Amino acid sequence: MQKRQQPGRRTVLGAAALGAGAAVLGGAGQASAAVRGTAGRELPVPLIVGHRGASGYRPEHTFGSYQLALDMGADVIEQDLVPTKDGHLVCRHENDITATTDVSAHPEFADRRTTKTVDGQQLTGWFTEDFTLAELKTLRAKERIPGTRQHNTLYDGHWQVPTFEEVLQWAEREGRKRGRRVWLHIETKHPTYFRKLGLGLEERLAKALRAHGRHRRNSPNFLQSFEPSSIRRLGELVDCPKVVLLGTLKDRPWDFTEAGDPRTVADLVTPKGLAWIAGFAEGIGPDLTVIIPRDKDGKLGEPTSVVKDAHAAGLVLHPYTVRNENTFLPADFRRGTDPNAYGDSLGVFKAYLGTGIDGLFSDNPDTALLAAEEFRTH
Ligand code: G3P
Ligand code: CA
Repeated sequence: MQKRQQPGRRTVLGAAALGAGAAVLGGAGQASAAVRGTAGRELPVPLIVGHRGASGYRPEHTFGSYQLALDMGADVIEQDLVPTKDGHLVCRHENDITATTDVSAHPEFADRRTTKTVDGQQLTGWFTEDFTLAELKTLRAKERIPGTRQHNTLYDGHWQVPTFEEVLQWAEREGRKRGRRVWLHIETKHPTYFRKLGLGLEERLAKALRAHGRHRRNSPNFLQSFEPSSIRRLGELVDCPKVVLLGTLKDRPWDFTEAGDPRTVADLVTPKGLAWIAGFAEGIGPDLTVIIPRDKDGKLGEPTSVVKDAHAAGLVLHPYTVRNENTFLPADFRRGTDPNAYGDSLGVFKAYLGTGIDGLFSDNPDTALLAAEEFRTH
């Protein structure tokens, strides 16, 4: 098992990466979550991001999921953004809403079912960009993976698809109630694809953030995208900290593919690639396997040098995504033979936290928060 880094070192690196405005993001005085909200330091290191809310327990990207994540104590709540036909930003992991809404049960929308190519992938279903917001609001959200998360199907049909505007208003309300700011981790999905359709995401996102005073360097948001060009565009519009998402080593950002840029994630996590990212972003959000690969048997291997190299470049790391179910865990952390049963996810959380990362996305924020707290105090 890999050696654990000292929390104090991690916090200094986390703060350094974000410069003078970083007091809210990390600092040497933040050894415990108990200091959250004091001395101007709002977020612990490592911070826990509620991935699509608390999507291990509620259908993703619903107010049920966001509220539960916040109530559990998640430090930051994630939104994925896609547009409607009339240009509103809504919270969905993809523009294809076939698996996460009841759209297929609406006969009035049967003729909207279509086949498209999104980022090189051919998909058949229903897509947000073919619906006005008013039409989309007649749908109800449902669990994406009912076979794995049967419990979550209890809530099928309970919530609408949230707009980003509604999320910003919710965050303000919750912030007032709690006497603290509610942090968001906001992703632009398929930005090149939508720009070609005349539905550019970045200007709409920036306008919404400005309207709510969330456009500043010390505003309680991180902005994230798999497409570096989207991050660069956002950097011209607002001052929030930005995180470049990275897939597995062989992946190539879609905007690179479109522009004929041959670099892959493997190129971007070299010291040269990380220095390039540090020219326009404050962090990276890599796939977990970029931090600790799995071996040929699917077991957790040894950590790479990416944490050290990213910190050396002045970047924080918010990798994704730890989930409690066996099916998502490395082979040596599974328990029993039921793929949907929980395995030793606490062990996985701690293995990743031990690499020195600054934050972690999880579908199970309560488990992640326990692991983070134990990691800080042991
Ligand atoms: O944004 C972090 C993580 O969510 C990236 O993967 O595909 O779940 O958006 P994805
Ligand atoms: Ca995401």
